[in-house]
Amino acid sequence: MFVRNHARVPVPDTQAQTAKPHLPDAQTVTAVTHWNESLFSFRVTRPQSLRFRSGEFVMIGLLDDRGKPLLRAYSIASPAWDEELEFYSIKVPDGPLTSRLQHIKVGQEIILRPKPVGTLVHDALLPGKRIWFLATGTGIAPFASLMREPETYEKYEQVIMMHTCRTVSELEYGRQLVENLEADPLIGEMVAGKLRYYATTTREASPRMGRITDNLASGKVFADLGLPRMNPAEDRAMVCGSLAFNVDVKAVLESFGLREGANSEPREYVVEKAFVGDGV
Ligand SMILES: Cc1cc2nc3c(=O)[nH]c(=O)nc-3n(C[C@H](O)[C@H](O)[C@H](O)COP(=O)(O)OP(=O)(O)OC[C@H]3O[C@@H](n4cnc5c(N)ncnc54)[C@H](O)[C@@H]3O)c2cc1C
Ligand SMILES: NC(=O)c1ccc[n+]([C@@H]2O[C@H](COP(=O)([O-])OP(=O)(O)OC[C@H]3O[C@@H](n4cnc5c(N)ncnc54)[C@H](OP(=O)(O)O)[C@@H]3O)[C@@H](O)[C@H]2O)c1
Repeated sequence: MFVRNHARVPVPDTQAQTAKPHLPDAQTVTAVTHWNESLFSFRVTRPQSLRFRSGEFVMIGLLDDRGKPLLRAYSIASPAWDEELEFYSIKVPDGPLTSRLQHIKVGQEIILRPKPVGTLVHDALLPGKRIWFLATGTGIAPFASLMREPETYEKYEQVIMMHTCRTVSELEYGRQLVENLEADPLIGEMVAGKLRYYATTTREASPRMGRITDNLASGKVFADLGLPRMNPAEDRAMVCGSLAFNVDVKAVLESFGLREGANSEPREYVVEKAFVGDGV
């Protein structure tokens, strides 16, 4: 019989961490895509019992050197109907988890705690005409789920995805996802004509530039898309970015008259942190 990771055979860290017998709540990696030197996405098998609302997050990870689970919060980037789970990840240099996770390969395993939670869910918003998804960096992950969720198009006449990164390559995961959506056999028809994609960079020249906060406050995005100024009667928003971004964009949304909601008290917008900490 072929024995994987025999104790006397030295194996790279990643193989040792993902050996089948050791991982609690193990799921198998089915695909990995590297988008640039700091971003990658991957898909894993989905536990049969896992139910979640598009936009929620779970804890995932690997075993550390002492064999203890090293877990971090990750938005599920795939929609609730998908038979697999997708994640979109940063590669933090020297990050305890992502310095290892970035080397994960198809067939290896990760830990996935099947307890989804989060505020970026449709239930936390009052009904409206338009929904704005506002994200910086990996903050697009929950919206990668919600943009593929039929409920999004059932509930809203228009869906606007604003994504801002420093550079063009950091936009690529979201750009390709949106581009492929209209051709999607499952929800392509629902998406057509409803989803507007407004991506900008701030530190590299590209067709559209500027911070989300500036493009909202100046009215540029409304003019560019031919939409009315954001207002609490028609517009709903979900926000996911760094703490500084979330604080600043909340102020802009409040200036338009939108109020923050929650699962327990739906209102006009909801916010979630894309990560904890100021910088890497
Ligand atoms: C609710 C929630 C959802 C999250 N969803 C995702 C997700 O879908 N994809 C994802 O890549 N990360 C996500 N994160 C961040 C994630 O939990 C980890 O912080 C990240 O995987 C890095 O782990 P690490 O152990 O390598 O470094 P950590 O020790 O966790 O982080 C080190 C530092 O890296 C920076 N950092 C961490 N994550 C990011 C990031 N995503 N973008 C920019 N800088 C970052 C911060 O400054 C942080 O202090 C989420 C965090 C929260 C709270
Ligand atoms: N992405 C990289 O290439 C890079 C490289 C080295 C280190 N890092 C470190 O990694 C951390 C995360 O980087 P990141 O690029 O994912 O996230 P980030 O620094 O939060 O920037 C992502 C995007 O959000 C914008 N933004 C930042 N703060 C904002 C605010 N308060 N209001 C509105 N828009 C805001 C940025 O615009 P601005 O460009 O105008 O700030 C940028 O376009 C940073 O703290 C950084 O120190 C990143």
